[in-house]
Order: sequence, then structure tokens, then C-alpha cells
Amino acid sequence: FTLTDHTGKTVTDKDFTGKYRLMYFGFTYCPAICPTELSKITAALNKMGDSGKEILPMFITVDPERDTPSIMKSYVTLFHPSLVGLSGTPEQTKAVLKHYKIYAAKREDPKMSDYTMDHSSFVYFIGPDDRLLHIFKMEDNAETMADIMTRWTAAP
Ligand code: NI
Repeated sequence: FTLTDHTGKTVTDKDFTGKYRLMYFGFTYCPAICPTELSKITAALNKMGDSGKEILPMFITVDPERDTPSIMKSYVTLFHPSLVGLSGTPEQTKAVLKHYKIYAAKREDPKMSDYTMDHSSFVYFIGPDDRLLHIFKMEDNAETMADIMTRWTAAP
């Protein structure tokens, strides 16, 4: 993929090769699910102590219309100092969502002036060799996530 990070820098998927990554897709206007999942990611990484520092958390927006790099910047700092916020053009976003098989669709709510987004809520754990190691679901808690990631990062 090619996207823009929260500092305004253009990045591609290749920039992250060599690192363990935790990748989550959502949007900053999300009322509940995204903040919950991002807080859980932070809790899991903190529980891991030093090995948690080897893992780069990433948040990719499914709502590029509203989530500009500067909005992403103020949002990611709420969760984790290492959290990378990525946004892109509608075309770049479509491509990255398709690649990672993430469903996202705009939903208008007649009771609200603004729209919301329906989206899948998976956290992908990716290895330094770009291999998908684990998919965490909403029902996995921070302890489970930390245990599974510790097993992977401790493996020889
Ligand atoms: Ni959400």
C-alpha cells in the first residue's frame, strides 16, 4: 500500500517490513468500537513490557474523507506514543482495505447530521517477514492478546 502517516509523510507497506506490527482499521469519529479496540491494543502492549516495544501499533482509517493526517495525529496520541495513524486518498484507502479484506461502508443516520461508518473490527498481528501471524477479534481481551504476541516474539 501507499498511504500518508500522521506526520504527513508518504509511506508504503515496505517501510514496515522487519517489524512486528499490530494493524487496526477504523475511523476517528467512531463512537465506541475503535476507541475500545485501540485502548485494548495499548493495554496489551503495556502488559508485554519490553517485548511490547518490539511491536508497532498501526491505525488505518476507513474514512479518508474526514480523517486527514492532522486529525489522525491528534487522535493517535490519545492512545499510544508509538501508534502510527495512516490515511490516504479514497483510491489508496480502497486498495488497502481490499488487500486486507476489511469491510467498510458509509452509513447515513437520519437522526444525525453526520454519517458514520460500518466496518470490520479485526486486529492483524503481522511478523517482521510480513507474514500474518494472528487475527485478534473483538472478544479477545488484552491478556489474551499479550499472551499470544509474547509467544510469537519469544519464539526462536
Ligand atoms: Ni470503529
